[in-house]
Amino acid sequence: MQDDIVDVNAKIKAVDYSPIKTGENVVVVTPTYAWRIPPRIVSDWLSKTKLLSAKRIWFVMNCGSEIGNASKYNCSLAEQKHLCYMGTSQILMPENYIAMFDAPQAEEARKIVKNAEPTIVDTIACIKAEQPFPVPRNNLYDRFMSGPVNSIFYQFFVKATAFQTDDTCIGCGQCVKNCPKNNIALENGKPIWGGINVLNVWHVFVIVPQKQ
Ligand SMILES: Cc1cc2nc3c(=O)[nH]c(=O)nc-3n(C[C@H](O)[C@H](O)[C@H](O)COP(=O)(O)O)c2cc1C
Repeated sequence: MQDDIVDVNAKIKAVDYSPIKTGENVVVVTPTYAWRIPPRIVSDWLSKTKLLSAKRIWFVMNCGSEIGNASKYNCSLAEQKHLCYMGTSQILMPENYIAMFDAPQAEEARKIVKNAEPTIVDTIACIKAEQPFPVPRNNLYDRFMSGPVNSIFYQFFVKATAFQTDDTCIGCGQCVKNCPKNNIALENGKPIWGGINVLNVWHVFVIVPQKQ
């Protein structure tokens, strides 16, 4: 879309809640964690950070399989910020929760990315036309996953303790550099994880303030 991007990962890492000058249209692009946007620190950052001039907000959520009823929670967040909620678009991308699942092989991952292109094109078209996204699926299963399962998943399964390293780690320190909660340190050239819940740790999250 040739718009400016704000790296929210960096903002959170720097504990920076200073207002951001946006256009009237804001797009939040974020991976799905436990059938919602990565909660707590991200919604916390969005709640606290003023998006100057913003009127409308779209959410684009990439996911390994499904976003559940994430739209409901995104809508609440938009309302809380007095922004017009323009919907949530689900984009299927390679799975990356390696603590529980296998990541797809490179060839399979390339296919997944390629298959996502039509949805990405439709998503961009909607935003450019200032149209709301089509309403995503929202059945009992979706509501269950984004509701009670989100809390259980978060509490019991998503922990930094699930991560470890082996001899293939070259100790490059990228994980330390990118962790927004500064929860990873290098010890003898290998990463060690602190006690912070990983849902508060891993995310790639950007806001795209559109030029008007
Ligand atoms: C902690 C965690 C939880 C996840 N939960 C979900 C989920 O509920 N639904 C889903 O479809 N994908 C889930 N995923 C997969 C990611 O959303 C998906 O791989 C996404 O494309 C990753 O985006 P990124 O490469 O921009 O980080 C999860 C990944 C992580 C790390």
